[in-house]
Amino acid sequence: MNIQFDEKNLLADVVGKASGLTRSEVERALPKARKALAGFRKKSDAGLYGFPGLPFEAQVIRSIRQFAAEARGSFDTVCVVGIGGSALGSWALDCGIRGPHPVQGAFTAEHPRLVILDNVDPDFTAAALDSMNPRTTLVVVIAKSGGTAETVATFLIIREWLQQALGRRASGRIVAVTTDGKGDLFELAKGEKYRTFAIPQNVGGRFSVLTPVGLVPAALIGIDIAKLCRGAARMTELCWKGELDENIALRAALYQWLVWTRKDKPIQVAFPYSNSLWGTAFWFRQLWAESLGKAKNNQDEIVHTGQTPVAALGATDQHSQVQLYIEGPNDKLFTFWAVERFAHAGKIPRARLNLAAFDALGGQSLAKLIDAERRATAAAMVENERPNCTFTLARVDEEHLGGFLQMLEFETAFLGELLDIDAFNQEGVELGKKFTFGLMGRKGFEQYRRAFAAYERKRSAAR
Ligand code: PA5
Repeated sequence: MNIQFDEKNLLADVVGKASGLTRSEVERALPKARKALAGFRKKSDAGLYGFPGLPFEAQVIRSIRQFAAEARGSFDTVCVVGIGGSALGSWALDCGIRGPHPVQGAFTAEHPRLVILDNVDPDFTAAALDSMNPRTTLVVVIAKSGGTAETVATFLIIREWLQQALGRRASGRIVAVTTDGKGDLFELAKGEKYRTFAIPQNVGGRFSVLTPVGLVPAALIGIDIAKLCRGAARMTELCWKGELDENIALRAALYQWLVWTRKDKPIQVAFPYSNSLWGTAFWFRQLWAESLGKAKNNQDEIVHTGQTPVAALGATDQHSQVQLYIEGPNDKLFTFWAVERFAHAGKIPRARLNLAAFDALGGQSLAKLIDAERRATAAAMVENERPNCTFTLARVDEEHLGGFLQMLEFETAFLGELLDIDAFNQEGVELGKKFTFGLMGRKGFEQYRRAFAAYERKRSAAR
């Protein structure tokens, strides 16, 4: 596995002093990076946060592989019902390994289609139902809390759809991934005898891609989860190293934290030049936003910190966003995600048309073109004093994707330490869930219904 981080375009010598870091600024901050590593290591060793240990859970990985092998051939579609951290990891893996967004290869019993129902848009749900056959669909319902409104509502629809077609056999087509022994989904799964897989208590939704949350759907659609975890395990070893040269998660965390907080860049654009990494960019948005967007620091002081993550796709968004990125407010840090070797070169046929635009590109390759476009955009950004950095994956396969996801989780955890915040809670998300339950009339959530009524009164009184 080979994943590199290039921070050169974050340096003052390259991008200018206003947005770039001097060597002495970086050196002065080195003790903080060491403290962040030690701080997170201590919490991880104490068992507070479980994601670093996930790639080493051989027994879990084995049981998921075995389940997928037994089920293989009996379905052509895997339907995931889940939202946020219970859905985005599956999409990142499907998009990265099964085929780039938005075009995927033919689906077979070995490589079934993945349908992710992560929204309660009724037209979307109806279209998905129309596109699936209940006799050849395996449903994976995922919720750590076991009671998220969107997941529960959609699952009731899917469960009835299966029951109407299969009667009592419907339960055999449902897998539940939830917290063991806790929550309404666990109770339902137990009552209706679904096959269940457990989400460890100490792993939050956005850090759960390497738990059964991501691994069960991945294994069912034919992804080699052992290789995925092998890449993540290798990365984990690197992420515990004290040397910044070896530990790219810590190095990236340090440089990005310094540029964000010292050079005033409240927005980070994750800019993959790869359709295969587009799902990962959306997974990253949640990871970065929910982990680092916090009202209070660990001292209980109000800080309202956070860096807004934006996803842009290269080269497509060069023709949509880059005008703003280069000439608009200088408030962004750009992180390119490059791929060294694509599975296909994309050879462009030679052309002798006596037309400069065509003849110049004929005989070259799309791989060379997309690489040139990324490097050209980075150079144009430097010309305009826009700080940028690059992660490069040697290729997008299971090992590299597993390593990259794990590295981004470590980087986020280190950023949490540098910012002195709790990167693992999500009070803001929880409050929205409670308001929704109040509005939908759930027992025990009356105070949130009343709070919402007060909000509506305020709106009516406004002139
Ligand atoms: O990261 C998180 O914890 C959240 O974004 C959750 O993943 C999301 O709210 C879904 O929660 P649940 O899995 O309980 O349905």
